[in-house]
Amino acid sequence: MKIALITGVTRREGLGFETAMQMVDLGYNVIISGRDFTKVRVLAGELNASGMELDVTSEESIKDAASYVRENYGKLDALINNAGGYYDAGAQPLEINIEFAKSAFETNLFGALRVIKAFMPLHEESGSARIVNVSSGAGSFSDPIFGLSNNQSIAPVYSMTKLALNGLTVKIAGQINHSKIKINSVCPGFVATYPGTAEWGARPVNEGASGIVWAATLPDDGPTGGFFRDGKVLQW
Ligand SMILES: NC(=O)c1ccc[n+]([C@@H]2O[C@H](COP(=O)([O-])OP(=O)(O)OC[C@H]3O[C@@H](n4cnc5c(N)ncnc54)[C@H](OP(=O)(O)O)[C@@H]3O)[C@@H](O)[C@H]2O)c1
Repeated sequence: MKIALITGVTRREGLGFETAMQMVDLGYNVIISGRDFTKVRVLAGELNASGMELDVTSEESIKDAASYVRENYGKLDALINNAGGYYDAGAQPLEINIEFAKSAFETNLFGALRVIKAFMPLHEESGSARIVNVSSGAGSFSDPIFGLSNNQSIAPVYSMTKLALNGLTVKIAGQINHSKIKINSVCPGFVATYPGTAEWGARPVNEGASGIVWAATLPDDGPTGGFFRDGKVLQW
């Protein structure tokens, strides 16, 4: 059976929970994780999934999580780096609080990098693993609403972390291009994971999650090192 791990699953309304549900429906053995295990355990029970504590800013937590997966499953077929946040909607670049920015990069960029590094040996056991970095059009230049070219000053820290995450995707893809492991960035679109956002035009969570699931279940001739929404290429 194929094993999938999803980070940042502590809210029923979130993309991680919906992604987990879709992966369970596809027959994957899904491990959901988060830094608050009390919340993770409840959600895992609802999903018919396993639950694990995993704080993406903690090397120790990640090491323990990787040991747990090795001992219980021996491999990892899909890793979905969904943990993230720090959407500084009203902020302006010149007023960035550096400590806030450091924390955002610790989670959104280095969190994903730490998890990928720790689980790479388990991906190698899988042979055809898929890694998905949940990114955002805010980290692209091209997105017509949230992109850097069009919406230059809004949500500066969040946008920079996702821009960097997209860069990380490309760099890792280059290093592992000899293997069958694939890594891609996915923007779920503007998704209604918080109250009130549907009124601003956010789309249903299941639609955003399906593009993540697409990248997590790519066939062997699928793309790597790309940026996608709904299974279609997004320009950087
Ligand atoms: N919603 C959108 O429109 C949208 C659009 C583009 C991209 N995204 C991306 O999609 C992902 C999920 O977002 P969402 O909208 O579903 O919001 P969400 O439910 O708040 O998801 C973020 C998750 O990340 C977790 N997290 C934060 N810091 C963590 C850490 N150090 N270790 C482990 N987990 C941590 C949070 O857990 P806690 O409960 O512990 O804080 C939460 O479960 C994020 O990466 C976000 O940037 C969302």
